[in-house]
Amino acid sequence: MQRLFAPRGVAVIGASTNSAKIGFRVVKNIIDGGYGGSVYPINPKADEILGQAAYPSVEAVEEMIDLGIVAVPAAHVLPVVASCGRKGIANLVILTSGFSEVGKTEEERCIVEVARESGVRILGPNVFGIYSAAASLDATFGPGGIAPGGVAIVTQSGALGIAMIGKTASESLGLSALVSVGNKSDLGEADLLEYLVADELTRVVLLYIEGVKDGERLVRTLSQVTRKKPVVVIKSGRSKRGAMAAASHTGSLAGADAVFDDLMREAGVLRARSVQEAFDWVRFLSDAPTPQGDEAVIVTNGGGIGVLATDACEEYGVQLFDEQGELAEAFKGVMPDFGSSKNPVDLTGQATASDYAEALEAVLEHSGMHSAIALYCETATSQADQFEGLLRDVYARYRGRKPIVFSLFGGRTMADVIRTLRAEGVPVYGDVYEAVSPLGALYRAGRNEDRPGRESADDMDLATVRRILTAAGREGRGFLLADEAAEVAGAIGLSLPQSRVARTLKDAVAAAQMIGYPVVMKIVSRDIIHKSDAGGVALDLQDDAELIDAYQALIRNAKAYKPSAVITGVEVAEMIRPGVETIVGVSRDPAFGPVAMFGLGGIYVEVMKDVAFRAAPVSRRTAHEMIASIRSYPLLLGVRGEGRKDIDAAARVLRKLSLLADACREISDIEVNPLAVYDHGEGVRAVDVRILFDPQEEVKRP
Ligand code: ACO
Repeated sequence: MQRLFAPRGVAVIGASTNSAKIGFRVVKNIIDGGYGGSVYPINPKADEILGQAAYPSVEAVEEMIDLGIVAVPAAHVLPVVASCGRKGIANLVILTSGFSEVGKTEEERCIVEVARESGVRILGPNVFGIYSAAASLDATFGPGGIAPGGVAIVTQSGALGIAMIGKTASESLGLSALVSVGNKSDLGEADLLEYLVADELTRVVLLYIEGVKDGERLVRTLSQVTRKKPVVVIKSGRSKRGAMAAASHTGSLAGADAVFDDLMREAGVLRARSVQEAFDWVRFLSDAPTPQGDEAVIVTNGGGIGVLATDACEEYGVQLFDEQGELAEAFKGVMPDFGSSKNPVDLTGQATASDYAEALEAVLEHSGMHSAIALYCETATSQADQFEGLLRDVYARYRGRKPIVFSLFGGRTMADVIRTLRAEGVPVYGDVYEAVSPLGALYRAGRNEDRPGRESADDMDLATVRRILTAAGREGRGFLLADEAAEVAGAIGLSLPQSRVARTLKDAVAAAQMIGYPVVMKIVSRDIIHKSDAGGVALDLQDDAELIDAYQALIRNAKAYKPSAVITGVEVAEMIRPGVETIVGVSRDPAFGPVAMFGLGGIYVEVMKDVAFRAAPVSRRTAHEMIASIRSYPLLLGVRGEGRKDIDAAARVLRKLSLLADACREISDIEVNPLAVYDHGEGVRAVDVRILFDPQEEVKRP
């Protein structure tokens, strides 16, 4: 990676003397960008390109080359890659289009294979190139003129990436790197992130993703990177369905985008809704100092926008300083009688420019006030030139000490001030929400540093689980029978209702007496998966007489439902008392691996779609976060005078299932539905556990 971002010699294969061609543009950008190493244009017909000696092939160059930029038509790429391999070039950036993006997957695979054989890594194909501030290297065919700075952009979209170069200039955003990943035939986001996390120039990473390859590795890498540096992601398009394992009936809830969203949040990634928001965030994050605490102060000359900013703070997770006495004291010198020193601090429309500056100075000097949101409504007496200078001075005072964002509202005067100051890198915005949003991103990024690490599955009896799965697999089944699922639950320490499988009516009565009435009875047959549909479930049986009637009905129903079904017997189980019904599970996502799910369960699950997802395994803290994130969380906190439910016990089950699915990669779906959650201290009861697995899946460990 070091040789990709700081190469000791760059060859441009397909360099051209024709200024309209991409191969010319790349050489020109490398030279104009001030690259310190040697550039070798490769072209069999030319002697010299842009003042540099040209060579017929890379093998004709005697000096060391670390990086090759390939700009020859698709049909010539394979021999070029082989030749670069022979020359010992470590990395190739293949600009050429016309591979897997147009269905030519085989051609792309061949290129990667040839590259692998000679130890060459490939970025692309179908990319616009790479910029690296570490080497002052602009090996792209973009417009040139990239300013160095602290933001690294990794983009899958080429066109958007090139457009971003222009945008970085107009937004005065400096880049540490700009990498186009294109078809990701070999190197992908995770490889680049591993370099960028250690790169001293990079303060923030912006990822533009269209589709994910090896999502599991990406999430793992992101979780580590975000503990050190903020990562902002924009993901376009909703990914294809089928993300959650199709066998699970809750799969329909997943929508791959919801999974992506939750996984990114869990990995500590800041997901922006638009390119503009992402730019605002990375620009602010790359420059703002780390806040020394959580509490922000809003200073405004207009009550209305002050209230809007308060709403925005709530939406973006920005806390407000709330010590009334200290607020009154801090602003007493600038506050008119009819103003308000409560936060938002409203200086009113009477405030002069110097009152305004003084109030912001008071925030800067107060040790308990950690960041400032400065709002300004244009007034009849506002003077643009004076105001512009004032904000510039305030920002200069804050810079490096405390984060500050500005929002100005008004007519042309304010619009001019915004444009001028933004071009200078001052975080000034037209809308209050736009101003608070980057500050919220800064606070969220800061919270990543104390995210807990992953936990282990050491306290589970995995040998028993594997034995059961192997035995079921030998019978050619991809699901576990109720008694087997119960045994698996027992092996991971999950409390299930007492139950027995009875093969005769007499056994069933004896089992019910042993468990104690009321009981539930269910048909047991490998040929009947959806027991309720088959009339194979009887609830709340109070005594022997009810049990005997139900037994006969169950057998009759099952035979009518599927005459060929082999009926093993019935399961007699403890009747679980009602609690708040939740659903807890883990499904294998084709892109991201095991994904844990928690939601409101029972009969509401399909209707409410109130579920949260995180990459499995989840830590205790993440499990609690998931539970708290669903809309029906108040039900667990207790409504109408009820007490709080046993959320800790629910979180433990969630964690256990996620650890199990992570440890036993054969398990494709495990779902407890419902999981009844009782009052605090009274625990939870799993009513039903369903386990699907893939007997072919070998045990893969990351
Ligand atoms: N070794 C060295 N040079 C060679 C070789 C070779 N094996 N083969 C050909 N060349 C030379 C050619 O002679 C030519 O030089 P010349 O102008 O002196 O004759 C030069 O390499 C380029 O070859 P051309 O045949 O002229 O190809 P052209 O430049 O028209 O196109 C390109 C090549 C740009 C790679 C094209 O095939 C392509 O893929 N374009 C799309 C690029 C793209 O958009 N990438 C995705 C970016 S992301 C986005 O969407 C913006």
